[in-house]
Amino acid sequence: MNNFEYHNPTRILFGAGQIAGMAKHIPSNARVLMLYGGGSIKANGTYDEVKAALAGHAVLEFGGIEPNPHYETLMQAVALIKAEKIDYLLAVGGGSVIDGTKFVAAAAVFDGEPWDILSIGGKVVQGAMPFGAVLTLPATGSEMNSASVITRAATREKRAFASRFVYPQFSVLDPSKTFTLPLRQVGNGVVDAFVHVMEQYMTYPVNAPVQDRFAEGLLLTLIEQGPQVLSAPEDLEIRANIMWTATLALNGLIGVGVPQDWATHMIAHELTALFGLDHAQTLAIVLPGILSVKREAKRGKLLQYAERVWGLREGSEDARIDAAIERTRAFFEQMGVQTRLSGYGLDAASAIDATVQALEAAGMTKLGEHRDITPAVARAALALSV
Ligand code: NZQ
Ligand code: ZN
Repeated sequence: MNNFEYHNPTRILFGAGQIAGMAKHIPSNARVLMLYGGGSIKANGTYDEVKAALAGHAVLEFGGIEPNPHYETLMQAVALIKAEKIDYLLAVGGGSVIDGTKFVAAAAVFDGEPWDILSIGGKVVQGAMPFGAVLTLPATGSEMNSASVITRAATREKRAFASRFVYPQFSVLDPSKTFTLPLRQVGNGVVDAFVHVMEQYMTYPVNAPVQDRFAEGLLLTLIEQGPQVLSAPEDLEIRANIMWTATLALNGLIGVGVPQDWATHMIAHELTALFGLDHAQTLAIVLPGILSVKREAKRGKLLQYAERVWGLREGSEDARIDAAIERTRAFFEQMGVQTRLSGYGLDAASAIDATVQALEAAGMTKLGEHRDITPAVARAALALSV
């Protein structure tokens, strides 16, 4: 295991009813801007609960943050913050609203061209406004991490940044707020969390048994609870287990001291930027192919995954690896997320060409834990999911 430093400053308020008590974590004299998405929080009562909880605060609102949040929209929020002298932000929604709020928090105090935060990266960020979050969609882990992914609609660029200044100060995780999710988003969330674990686990062994077993525990929990949430969507305990699993999948803990991959995410982000597919849909297309084409470099971990996660102990090494990849693909499809380009009505040849060109244009030519996932390797991986 490699050396590491780990510090996660986000306070978690977990469970049904926790919104009511969150106001004490916001300075009482703060002028708060509540940021949200397209209106789901109004339809399911979250908006009213948040407003009631913040009755003692001055609260302004900024709605309309879209899925795969747009830079253009978020810059309007930055202008509002400056005009209204806002000093605290509250994100209420899914990963897109929380990611958008992170960018706004950094951009509002940034001295320079705000797009640099995304084109150069989080190292240019020297500070950010404080903010909290109320999570309504378990998937991204954004509620307890320092990452944010923003799309510039005008140029179809989807770019990420990470900075220690953009951890939420607190996040409310109330699983009852997820009951209104369309099943498509429930399935998306399970697949996204699953792939987050895989990006930090499916590399090569470094004698980190705690990280490995923790990762395997999260995968097994998703494999167990994912189908249960589809068959019993009103069950609060299943919702709670999925919500906590998704948070732990990307709050940094399982990734400490181990190599990480993230090629699947980088390739998938280009697919979303080009074709508008949901984040998890693109992950489900890319991951099976990456596992297959990188089977030599990942062989040790693929065999461990096959045995410990899918119980595959019989047959040749390659037969076990193939079976584990097929089980993974079947699990995503069981969660309602198609794993092939054709499943989304895309012409495979032109979609693959466009994705490979976009990776090249963005300079993403050396991805993965060995920096050997070139555009040609990405092409070979995508060709397995046509
Ligand atoms: O906009 P509203 O009306 O709120 O509707 C949303 C949206 O249409 C809806 N929704 C959310 N909670 C709901 C609900 N509908 C009914 N009931 C509820 N309780 O769901 C739709 C999708 O929401 P979105 O926030 O876009 O989904 P998700 O949480 O999956 O976030 C995806 C974004 O996060 C980024 C992705 O790239 C994508 O832009 N990611 C962020 C990461 C991070 N910060 O660490 C890591 C991830 O890998 C990912 O890249
Ligand atoms: Zn993801």
